[in-house]
Amino acid sequence: MKIFQPFLTLMLSVDLTAQSQNHNLVVQANKINGPIQSTMYGLFFEDINYAADGGMYAELVKNRSFEFPQNFMGWVTYGNVKLMDDGPFERNPHYIRLGNPGHREKWTGVENEGFFGIGIKKDNDYRFSVWARGENQKIRVELIKNNSMEESQVVVQQELEINTTEWKQYEVILHSPATEPKAHLRIFMLSRESTLDLEHISLFPVDTWKNRKNGLRKDLVQVLYDMHPGVLRFPGGCIVEGTDFNTRYQWKNTIGQVENRPLNENRWHYTFPHRFFPDYFQSYGLGFFEFFQLAEDIGAAPLPILNVGLICQYQNEESAQPTINQIQPFIQDALDLIEFANGDTNTKWGRFRAEMGHEAPFNLKYLGIGNEQWGKIYPEHLKPFIEAVRKSYPEIKIIGSSGPGSEGEDFEYLWPQMRKLGADLVDEHFYRPEKWFLSQGNRYDNYDRKGPKVFAGEYACHGTGKKFNHFHASLLEAAFMTNLERNADVVHMATYAPLFAHVEGWQWRPDLIWFDNLNTVKSCSYYVQQLYSLNKGTNMVPLTMNKKPVSGQEGQDGLFASAVWDSNEHHYIVKVVNTSNKPQQLTISFNGLKKAQLSNGKVITFHSDNPDIDNSLETPDAVTPKESPISIENNILNTTIKAQTFAIYKFKK
Ligand code: AHR
Repeated sequence: MKIFQPFLTLMLSVDLTAQSQNHNLVVQANKINGPIQSTMYGLFFEDINYAADGGMYAELVKNRSFEFPQNFMGWVTYGNVKLMDDGPFERNPHYIRLGNPGHREKWTGVENEGFFGIGIKKDNDYRFSVWARGENQKIRVELIKNNSMEESQVVVQQELEINTTEWKQYEVILHSPATEPKAHLRIFMLSRESTLDLEHISLFPVDTWKNRKNGLRKDLVQVLYDMHPGVLRFPGGCIVEGTDFNTRYQWKNTIGQVENRPLNENRWHYTFPHRFFPDYFQSYGLGFFEFFQLAEDIGAAPLPILNVGLICQYQNEESAQPTINQIQPFIQDALDLIEFANGDTNTKWGRFRAEMGHEAPFNLKYLGIGNEQWGKIYPEHLKPFIEAVRKSYPEIKIIGSSGPGSEGEDFEYLWPQMRKLGADLVDEHFYRPEKWFLSQGNRYDNYDRKGPKVFAGEYACHGTGKKFNHFHASLLEAAFMTNLERNADVVHMATYAPLFAHVEGWQWRPDLIWFDNLNTVKSCSYYVQQLYSLNKGTNMVPLTMNKKPVSGQEGQDGLFASAVWDSNEHHYIVKVVNTSNKPQQLTISFNGLKKAQLSNGKVITFHSDNPDIDNSLETPDAVTPKESPISIENNILNTTIKAQTFAIYKFKK
């Protein structure tokens, strides 16, 4: 949104004249407090907004195994195409049989529309693969421009001979001479005699993250990697629960050969009728093995969340829930998951992991049980899980839930219950408006230090009337996060949510990272998360503002702050967020150090004059952090922080 220019000028002139008193921030530099956990700032991954299929999982073909309830959803067929259901993969039994079209001028074949089209890039290679059987058969595989006015629709084509009576996987590489954001995949049968069977029709970029064959979209994983996240929560929130019993997330369905991972409905395809995506399913090509591997690749601790034997409580009556006597299989799933992640290769599930290509354990330390649950039924269900996990794996830290709200009846009920059950961490969720974020500057100051630790597992500032990503919301997130950081002895993990959104396929916003078929956009909130993560330090350091502890709600004069020490880099790092509409003068003194022990440092600022702006596909770098040198004298910095700015001051000792 654009701001009317005369109004902006007026705002700025008011700001300048309103310049306020000096604020004295005193960092107790000789008092290095307790550690900040390596897991402190992390990522929440959920297959919402086409984050997995159509997103990070780089498969470009939708409904590749013809298993969607409408078996040809995403496909156009022509000529003589039949659907069959006795294929080689028992959990995905459908395939297609192509036959003679009945005339020598006609064709038999299929065309796939991809996810909002198929994005291909000039000079990139794409691996087409298909399971097939047939004698002396030939197909032509084409990537075509959809709706092209040009001479030819075809961007690239290859021919593939198929000559096996048994099922076999065939491959061919297509080298694209052009960039096309919304191509289609077309397959023709060139031979006309007899029939040809095709199953699991797939197309991937060859250039994937870490060049893994048929792996993850490189640009999207790179953005995650660049955040240096401490923890990766997966497979999400509500998706763990499912809309009904059959659609709950079952991790065992997501491992092993991809062709045989059974399709599941994605609960987000119908959750919001005003954002309805009837073609949204989970192929589980991105499954638990890949999640663990991803966590390892990006240096994050893996944090799976499992179903506690409750389906979505928003969408189901209590009478529809599994009873306590029916949850043993769920508990067994949890125990088996730990074995899958950490077990020796002579255990059943440890061997499974090794056979999938990862002999070494994944070093699982945390397990979440239950997402947004509430009522008595939740602790009742959770208790036997905790007992069973503790008995076999006492080293695993268990995360319970405080329900869907950031406060209120369920929250007040569940926290003591989690304490009673001995949960190690409690997952709190808050998608709240500006006012809430501004008033929570001291949320964790008085939390019990002896009880479970906090996992702020899903949060984002949802602007009132502005439920979209914008700079101001990210600024308030930054302000709120000073509170997490000052209370890092009790807050051990925090993950913004949701993580990804396809610009054409979102159900929920704001989100951290946006993308289309070819490009990625880091939101302002992403930069805030990244700035915290890259500057999280190793230890808390106390600080005061104007002689008062920096703890007050709504900050002091709109200012929020925190300070940390980084023992690896020998840096003091002070974060200050000015949420007010005026520039503010700051004096930051590092007390308790010998004279002039700090050398000149740098300041990273994150600011926009337009509170409603965010980065977009058209202007991906509209708001980015800026770094500049800053000098300090006798361990004292005198500076001005602009209105509406997040600033990080770093000095080396
Ligand atoms: O992040 C989107 C959803 O919000 C999650 O699935 C759920 O846990 C929460 O309600």
